[in-house]
Amino acid sequence: MAKPIVKLTNINKHFGPIDVLHDISLEVNAGEVLCLLGDNGAGKSTVIKTLAGVFKPSSGTIEMDGEIVEFTGPRDAANRGIATVHQFGGTFPLMSIGRSFFVGVEPTRKFGPFNIFDRKTANEIAVRAVREFGITRIDDGDRLVGGLSGGERQALAIARAVHLGARVLILDEPTAALGVKEAAHVLRIVLQARQRGLAVIFITHNVVHALTVGDHFAVLIRGAKAADFKKGEKSREEITDLMAGGEAMAELEAEIKSYSAGQTPQAN
Ligand SMILES: Nc1ncnc2c1ncn2[C@@H]1O[C@H](COP(=O)(O)OP(=O)(O)OP(=O)(O)O)[C@@H](O)[C@H]1O
Ligand SMILES: [Mg+2]
Repeated sequence: MAKPIVKLTNINKHFGPIDVLHDISLEVNAGEVLCLLGDNGAGKSTVIKTLAGVFKPSSGTIEMDGEIVEFTGPRDAANRGIATVHQFGGTFPLMSIGRSFFVGVEPTRKFGPFNIFDRKTANEIAVRAVREFGITRIDDGDRLVGGLSGGERQALAIARAVHLGARVLILDEPTAALGVKEAAHVLRIVLQARQRGLAVIFITHNVVHALTVGDHFAVLIRGAKAADFKKGEKSREEITDLMAGGEAMAELEAEIKSYSAGQTPQAN
């Protein structure tokens, strides 16, 4: 069987005296979406920042294609095909679509002794790449990124990562700030990235979004992996309950029951 593209084994991370991650082990294969679930502060972003070379693990190993890797920084991880897309696409609102697509890797054209940024080519490639992901409303690479919707920005950032050769696509809450339609668009793009054979790590609070695209799920609670299961093994209710650590949901249910019983909620 093919080795997972990425495998984390017993990753621990502490910042000074603060323990943030405890023995996190995860793996993700090509053409698979791993959903990383967990409440605020559970450690999701810290896991993926460790995988993306932003933090060094305090202990534990990261393997790519079965070989142990130690990233010197985010650029090193990116060069090995690990791309992170953040909540708002991480793009630059005052840049054009074509320009932002090629930040750091500008296609240049020879003009006498100079290499100048080839705006036309950049625009064409960027627009084509985004349209391949089904965002056909974008047809002008000179438009500013700031004028795109949240979903379009996500699409642009994902198309960019794929175009630049990402093998592992990390999406940190890509649907958190989006309306229903925009979120559906982004979820469709996640499935397209999977179909192209990328390994996708999808971080979300939204169990419905996770269940829509996920093949494999891991739930973090206070920096430790509380559950790890495949599609179909747990219901939405079970997952929600797990994420809240059980207690918060039970409290909420009791509160809702008391409202419906006509009691006035108590401020506290
Ligand atoms: N540089 C740091 N120094 C100290 N503590 C940190 C640092 N970075 C993160 N933490 C702590 O680690 C814990 C996990 O944070 P992290 O951002 O990974 O959570 P998260 O699951 O992504 O949460 P959210 O859903 O809110 O984004 C938090 O308690 C946070 O305060
Ligand atoms: Mg986070």
